Amino acid sequence: MSKFMEWIDARFPATKMWEDHLSKYYAPKNFNVLYFFGSLALLVLVNQILTGIWLTMSFEPSAEGAFASVEYIMRDVEYGWILRYLHSTGASAFFVVVYLHMFRGILYGSYQKPRELVWIFGMMIYLALMAEAFMGYLLPWGQMSYWGAQVIISLFGAIPVIGADLTQWIRGDYLISGITLNRFFALHVIALPIVILGLVVLHILALHEVGSNNPLGVDIKKNKDEAGVPLDGIPFHPYYTVKDIVGVVVFLFVFCAIVFFFPEMGGYFLEKPNFEPANAFKTPDHIAPVWYFTPYYAILRAVPDKLLGVIAMGAAIAVLFVLPWLDRSPVKSMRYKGWMSKVALILFCISFVILGVLGVLSPTPERTLVSRICTFIYFAYFILMPFYTKLEKTKVVPERVDG
Ligand code: HEM
Repeated sequence: MSKFMEWIDARFPATKMWEDHLSKYYAPKNFNVLYFFGSLALLVLVNQILTGIWLTMSFEPSAEGAFASVEYIMRDVEYGWILRYLHSTGASAFFVVVYLHMFRGILYGSYQKPRELVWIFGMMIYLALMAEAFMGYLLPWGQMSYWGAQVIISLFGAIPVIGADLTQWIRGDYLISGITLNRFFALHVIALPIVILGLVVLHILALHEVGSNNPLGVDIKKNKDEAGVPLDGIPFHPYYTVKDIVGVVVFLFVFCAIVFFFPEMGGYFLEKPNFEPANAFKTPDHIAPVWYFTPYYAILRAVPDKLLGVIAMGAAIAVLFVLPWLDRSPVKSMRYKGWMSKVALILFCISFVILGVLGVLSPTPERTLVSRICTFIYFAYFILMPFYTKLEKTKVVPERVDG
């Protein structure tokens, strides 16, 4: 075996890569459960790609055949039902995992110097993931696929001057048609998965260049032994590879329970109107995007003007990109920040969840008022961040992980 590895290593840096990224990558010894979600995101990504490949084998990307081919997968293709449920549940699981992963980053200030690029690559993944999910949702060609896409694509029409041409260019037709379905299929199965995979590689390379943060925000590279090994670090392999398996097992219990017992999740993972084929002449009573988009959808609806609404929705996502430069706190972790940061984060999270709930419901004057208040809090969290993180009194961060 060692002779074989010598032969490989003389031609390809296999052992070096194994050491740099696993057996000699020293991660802080104090990771908690919130650190499971990076490896879980990788697991869900692999699940989406594998089940996606097998679904593609029986799916027909045409307006005439798409809906029926999904029914065919569910009823006639061997194990087709489980492939589809793994993929549809996987889409929602991806966002659950990624939202918790992002929350961890915000809680522990993992976006702060020197991890700005880790965060930026993460945000690019998040954007690509939203595009991927949006395009995937059109493919089963159900009523919600069709009308959801109709609502979102028509938003581009609000852009002055080029709006009308742009919507037509995206659809490839005067209305959403088989042509739109075909291009979304190409982007969903080939283009975006490549982009996402590439970005994940960049995300992890950037992280391994600077090293992981931890719940205390202590810089473990400051204290090293004679061999240059961080005193508060442990090799990623075997310690965290084994620990991550615990997260994987717990995750799979929950995930499989949903796949086998509640794959529609009461209409949140697979919406009810999507069991009816797309019909351009019949608008559903109530159009709402899938749950993971609803906070932004609520922001869009909270603004009375269509163009300003689209701008607000775009800004709500764009502002996350500049988060590393809005936080001016001398400490990373929320544990050592002052009360203002803590209150701000709690209000932000509550507003985000309320916006998510409101985005699912049809608008009423009261709900619109609440969504306006929550939109205001959402933006205030970011806009005021440079001030409250600078003004507040922070606690002293310990030198070492153990105090
Ligand atoms: C496909 C999606 C993603 C995958 C597969 C992924 C994977 C990973 C992995 C394996 C880690 C190291 C383990 C860990 O710290 O949990 C990590 C760390 C990190 N990720 Fe992601 N990630 C994804 C999306 C995102 C997004 C959307 C963001 C934020 C916008 C993000 C921000 C971060 C940050 C800041 C860290 C460093 C955390 C720290 O050191 O404390 N990631 N990611």
